[in-house]
Amino acid sequence: MPGSIVVGTQWGDEGKGRIVDIVAKECQHVVRYQGGHNAGHTIVVDSETFALQLIPSGVLYEHVTPIIGNGVVINPWVLIDEIDMLASRGVDCGRLMLSPAAHLVLPYHQIADELAEAQRGDAKLGTTKRGIGPAYADKAARVGLRVEDLLEPMTLRSRLLSVLADRNAYLQRVYDHPGVDPDELADQLITEVAPRLAPLVADTVGWLHEALHAGERVLFEGAQATFLDLDHGTYPFVTSSNPVAGFALVGSGIGPGAIDQVIGIAKAYTTRVGSGPFVTELHGETGEHLRDRGAEYGTNTNRPRRCGWFDAVMGRQAVRLNACTEIALTKLDVLDELDTIKVCVAYEVDGHRYDYLPHLRSLHDRAVPVYATLPGWKTPLDKVTQRWQLPRQAVDYIVFLERQLGLPIRYVCVGPGREQYIRFAA
Ligand code: GDP
Ligand code: IMO
Ligand code: MG
Repeated sequence: MPGSIVVGTQWGDEGKGRIVDIVAKECQHVVRYQGGHNAGHTIVVDSETFALQLIPSGVLYEHVTPIIGNGVVINPWVLIDEIDMLASRGVDCGRLMLSPAAHLVLPYHQIADELAEAQRGDAKLGTTKRGIGPAYADKAARVGLRVEDLLEPMTLRSRLLSVLADRNAYLQRVYDHPGVDPDELADQLITEVAPRLAPLVADTVGWLHEALHAGERVLFEGAQATFLDLDHGTYPFVTSSNPVAGFALVGSGIGPGAIDQVIGIAKAYTTRVGSGPFVTELHGETGEHLRDRGAEYGTNTNRPRRCGWFDAVMGRQAVRLNACTEIALTKLDVLDELDTIKVCVAYEVDGHRYDYLPHLRSLHDRAVPVYATLPGWKTPLDKVTQRWQLPRQAVDYIVFLERQLGLPIRYVCVGPGREQYIRFAA
């Protein structure tokens, strides 16, 4: 069956957007299946940079139908701004499809996220403060508003009145915050949002089934990444959805038989934004070097990303959790100037060696990395387009990672530009 999934294998920002852009060339449909505008997926086309938060990265191709699946949470104003931004740059979003079952991220979610983070003080999770956690919490509590509610103004208003009676009481009592006026919000949604988004609401499940049945290629674009997964990530320092490949099915409404390819995206080193454990984190000069050369600052929040060596223990765990069939390695060029490069090949905890992530958080927190050291190549890679042009040490690094992960690396990226990658033959 013709379904491919692109999934982050680390803590996000691996370059999923740019890989989707490469793979989407051969696809007819690209679907976002979870997350919201906490994502920032960058695509660089010639001198133009597109940073997308909600719209699938395949949108730049006219032959692709971009679809926002039921598993996504949508801030409608951010989506409208993104549609307008793309239109102003010549990209038409008229063919974008929205699942009626996707939930809305509303101002009271964002307020709750901000206030909860402020209250946690030093114990903050480091969220993007976009309201993503509170929106998914409302979904699970069955009090969320969905895209389909935009089609029914009366229902929308009464659901808002009911949920805000509760949410406003909480904001007032716990945070001394005045809350959100339900009628004002309902008016805005009915007059500003619904006219823009209602025409895009479609039977995305039916559409995808027919496409897959007809043999058309569908690409499922994950946001965030495996170790930000609510179940499998470094809880509680995770996001509130399930980025792992399995959720592509739930978040878009298809079955497991539809998937024949899972591309795990890995940076040639590791980064993380926000709080939480990071076994291979570098605090000194080398970490700063990676941040500078890799421009490791949040795509939307501009927060500096924490940087460290490649962690093959996490990589192997991600391969398992997502059933990856291949790897795309990004940002290899960022390592160009290093004399030596380290790769974490195992963790050591209390004298025991772990090849996969320890199953208990208490063990993970005490893990010490076991490193292999490889020679650097000290040559710029940004113009390399063929495997044979790579210096021997760079090939050795790639082959070393392939052996560590037990999977072929099919794409190696050497710069942010659309053409700056090497395709490794199957
Ligand atoms: P995503 O969230 O996984 O889509 O990744 P982001 O877009 O947040 O972050 C990846 C950043 O690295 C973006 O600024 C990309 O333009 C850039 N990038 C992607 N691949 C490469 C690469 O191979 N080399 C370099 N130097 N930059 C890259
Ligand atoms: P893309 O799709 C990197 C992180 C936040 C925080 C944690 C929880 O661009 O890879 P949230 O706002 O989701 O409740 O924050 O998750 N986070 C990301 N980190 N890339 C992302 O998306 C992220 N989305 C959320 O920094 O640590
Ligand atoms: Mg990103």
